[in-house]
Amino acid sequence: MTTHTATVAGVAVDTRHWIGGARVASAATFTDESPIDGRALAEIARGGRAEADAAVAAAQAAFPAWAATPPAERARLLRAVADGVDKRLEELAIVETTDNGALLRSHRRGVMPRVAHNFRFFADRLEELGHEDFDTRGHTNHVSWDPAGPCVLITPWNAPLMLATWKVAPALAAGNTVVLKPAEWSPLTASLLADIAAEAGLPAGVLNLVQGYGTEAGAALVAHPGVRRISFTGSVPTARHIARAAAANLVPTSFELGGKSPLLVFADADLDLAVDLAVEQYDNAGQVCLAGTRLLVESSIAEEFTRRFVARAEALRQGDPRDEATDIGPNIHARQLEKIDGFVRRALAAGARAVVGGGPNTDLGGLYYRPTLLTDVAQDSEIVQEEVFGPVLTLQTFDTEDEAVRLANDTRFGLAATLATGDPERAARVTARLVAGTVWVNCFFVRDLRAPFGGSRESGVGREGGTWSFDFYCDVKNTVTAPRGWRGHG
Ligand code: NAI
Ligand code: MG
Repeated sequence: MTTHTATVAGVAVDTRHWIGGARVASAATFTDESPIDGRALAEIARGGRAEADAAVAAAQAAFPAWAATPPAERARLLRAVADGVDKRLEELAIVETTDNGALLRSHRRGVMPRVAHNFRFFADRLEELGHEDFDTRGHTNHVSWDPAGPCVLITPWNAPLMLATWKVAPALAAGNTVVLKPAEWSPLTASLLADIAAEAGLPAGVLNLVQGYGTEAGAALVAHPGVRRISFTGSVPTARHIARAAAANLVPTSFELGGKSPLLVFADADLDLAVDLAVEQYDNAGQVCLAGTRLLVESSIAEEFTRRFVARAEALRQGDPRDEATDIGPNIHARQLEKIDGFVRRALAAGARAVVGGGPNTDLGGLYYRPTLLTDVAQDSEIVQEEVFGPVLTLQTFDTEDEAVRLANDTRFGLAATLATGDPERAARVTARLVAGTVWVNCFFVRDLRAPFGGSRESGVGREGGTWSFDFYCDVKNTVTAPRGWRGHG
């Protein structure tokens, strides 16, 4: 007998797709594992072309009614989804931790509350949406946002539900219908979201879920001619594939890709704060697109900075992410761990020195990589130029502000940059010269959802957040109305 429910940490998760308001199975499945111990968690329905077609058809069918639903009613339903997330917060947190290995304490206290906030925020934003009218010789230009149509949303495994809802919430608020394709290494919370949305009363076909591999379900979805928007978070090579597929149908895309962001520490910085910020870059075992993985430290304080950093890094507790005392858990998958270790081994062979870590934590078994700091690295080396996506930082020194900016910007990426400095004028000067979608001065990771988010260069295309999300997920319309009694140009 086939069962379509997996019990994960005591929580029942439906392993089928969610299409047009119904659970749909596939003949094929794939195995989802837990990075905590490598154990199989669930056999997940493995979608392809047929499921992609069915889901886009469901999204197309549901679109006219959802687009015509008054904003206040759409907002009410999104707030009901947020309430459902709050109600199941503990379950979402433990399922996500079991599935992707990120810390339970951050899922409980940071990530899942933010998931609910994504829905409430875009509901509020929808109700406030507006632009001042322009006046041209008495003619009023009025800006409005029309829903665009079915949106395909493709998301990664490092922050599965957080990144999915960062797209789902604005796309739905804008009056679009969506097909979500979660990452194959961490699909479970997306299925719980489908349950929550159904319980909240979201009409059938407004939110659809297709599970499966990127090259199968993902590729079929992004190539579908019925799709009006594609939003993707993940790697640069996959973004190139998606861009090619989108080009064939001239579908607008929004890409949030990787990074190799710098963290600049000037001699005038509060050194304790700078060390805190640097250690924070190990969060989620380094699997954070925004991570400031290149520490650039002014030479005069480099020794003292390194001494304090090493003490802090060595005190981090690595272990089971379900344990509240754990600071750093496992990496997502054996393949990711091998990739991380490959980068480190090649860097060491090229002359780098591991002042902290430098290899897997073999005491904990397969999937845990020790927090690592590499020095003696060349600017043009692989370890300084490529995204590792693991708990691996490099440290380089600089002597002048010019040199700091030059090193910071010498990368294909431009997602974020962090600086620690006690001099506000320096902060302003350096910020103006950095290529990055987000710059943090004496802080990290804090971000208002009203602000734009995205990357420069190969770190992304476009910006989402606040009104920028509505600009992307909508066809923006300008309506020009003549003044009363206007008789034409004649
Ligand atoms: P990926 O870019 O292959 O996967 C992300 C999503 O895209 C997944 O849902 C996947 O199924 C889907 N996908 C893959 N190929 C596709 C295709 N041809 N058409 C449509 N969808 C497709 O990333 P992956 O392999 O999981 O991770 C590789 C590297 O990417 C990481 O080591 C890291 O460097 C980077 N990465 C960056 C992230 C970020 O937040 N910017 C998130 C995850 C990974
Ligand atoms: Mg998993």
